[in-house]
Amino acid sequence: MPRLDLTGKKGVVFGVANARSIAWAISEALADAGAELAFAYQTERLLEPVKKTVSSLGGPCLVQCDATDPAQVEAAYETAVSALGGLDFVVHSIAYAERDDLGGDFSKTGIDGFRTALEVSAYTMIPITAFAVPHMGEDGGAIVTLTFDASEKVYPGYNVMGTAKAALENTVRQLAAEFGPKAIRVNAVSAGPLPTLAARSIPGFNEMRRSHAARAPIGRNITHKEVADAAVFLLSDLSTGITGHVLPVDGGYGIMGI
Ligand SMILES: NC(=O)c1ccc[n+]([C@@H]2O[C@H](COP(=O)([O-])OP(=O)(O)OC[C@H]3O[C@@H](n4cnc5c(N)ncnc54)[C@H](O)[C@@H]3O)[C@@H](O)[C@H]2O)c1
Repeated sequence: MPRLDLTGKKGVVFGVANARSIAWAISEALADAGAELAFAYQTERLLEPVKKTVSSLGGPCLVQCDATDPAQVEAAYETAVSALGGLDFVVHSIAYAERDDLGGDFSKTGIDGFRTALEVSAYTMIPITAFAVPHMGEDGGAIVTLTFDASEKVYPGYNVMGTAKAALENTVRQLAAEFGPKAIRVNAVSAGPLPTLAARSIPGFNEMRRSHAARAPIGRNITHKEVADAAVFLLSDLSTGITGHVLPVDGGYGIMGI
């Protein structure tokens, strides 16, 4: 089957933790299309699992980076881009909230938990985009992040992460407006629920999966591969007219009234 050709394109992926990470599914699809990748991982503890996960790509550049620290993001690009020899695209696939702030009454969200969720899950998109820009050439580039329907609707259990996703989606629009003149596009994929490390801490996650499979017009849950393919499209030259948008990969769940 003909596939999208990203031969010669180079990108940095933030957010691989293990083989179930959405970032890894996107990376596999990007590599399959011929792109060259470098990976920024969160903590020392993740180095071995990440190394193992990406080993099929033959020893790509790995750089440690806590994305809440702009200096670390800037340094990560220096290392990754010099290893790659250029930068055409970036994947931001990062989120975190304290367990206490997922589930229970939303009104009990504390200031520290609010700050953490918004900082990790929305703010990080700003330095990850801003520090990518100087490395992108005259042809510009593309940046994709991952969001969820809870940015607009109430999913009990998702709580402050819904607030963070709303902030993330607004951040996508503001960054898209700012960097559009440099031909740098910024978009989000809004994925249906997928079993990953991050998803496991969301109370009611299994119910979300059941509800999506039952109500979505496609009659099943979406797959990692379907999310990855949409992200590859948004990172490719097939989507040069699209920026600042949220593309739902939800099997149509979001269009249903009941
Ligand atoms: N799994 C789902 O159902 C689903 C649905 C829609 C959107 N998403 C989004 O997809 C993205 C990826 O999540 P996932 O489900 O693949 O889970 P995951 O746990 O595999 O990925 C989350 C990643 O965030 C990274 N991270 C957390 N704090 C960080 C920090 N300070 N600096 C750098 N990295 C940090 C973790 O190391 C991890 O790699 C998240 O934004 C998530 O909200 C997930």
